[in-house]
Amino acid sequence: MARRFLIAGNWKMNGLIKDGCALASAVVERHKAVNNAVYDMLICPPFPLISSIVKICTDSGVLVGGQDCHMNENGAHTGDTSAIMLKDIGCRYVIVGHSERRTDHAETDSIVKAKAKAALASGLKVIICIGETLIERETGQTLTVNKRQLNGSLPSNITAENTIIAYEPVWAIGTGKVATPEQAQEVHAAIRAELAHIADADIANDMRILYGGSMKRGNASELLGQPDIDGGLIGGASLKPEDFFGIADVCHSIP
Ligand code: PGA
Repeated sequence: MARRFLIAGNWKMNGLIKDGCALASAVVERHKAVNNAVYDMLICPPFPLISSIVKICTDSGVLVGGQDCHMNENGAHTGDTSAIMLKDIGCRYVIVGHSERRTDHAETDSIVKAKAKAALASGLKVIICIGETLIERETGQTLTVNKRQLNGSLPSNITAENTIIAYEPVWAIGTGKVATPEQAQEVHAAIRAELAHIADADIANDMRILYGGSMKRGNASELLGQPDIDGGLIGGASLKPEDFFGIADVCHSIP
């Protein structure tokens, strides 16, 4: 099965209703003007904006997702949002295990796994993030760390359709320092090989693995041209439609 690119915007904690709606409308307009897009397009706004943005994106082909979810369906968890709540308001995807969640909220692999399990149980597709820190890369632990996070964060019922992996080297997120295409490809290939052990060869072959970390239109073509890179999880550059589509457009020139 040929893997279809996924271009995913992670807006993080940016945008009030007015800005978010204007951005989503611009994304929808741009997306509608693309003939036969070779990628799926997803935007992940902050929770308070999701309902309004789902309305804007309905029937446009632009999918909407959450940036996190709780591992339980409901209950006494002040400030949290469950996966079924996201599904209920029209989300199709949810990101779990982003390094900012792992750092800011002390999320461990087992927490990430429980969240991913809840996401799949709710019917959402899940984007599970992993990635090494600078010190881990500099001390030669890159592949070990990514394999450990992968093994610890994936629930047992993953399929190539319901799960996407995002490799996001922590040192490249929001820093302007991007992994070289060779660095990224090396980790993506190692992730795919590990997926064959964790799941099976078909799932490993068909599952999409996104790169995230300072992806911009200037570096997207080399990154997305790598054999095991199937799209991007894009932070800063997803906040401007011309930058976001600058990346998406690149997919059309990759053989
Ligand atoms: P960035 O963020 O593109 O701003 O580096 C990526 C991410 O954190 O998902």
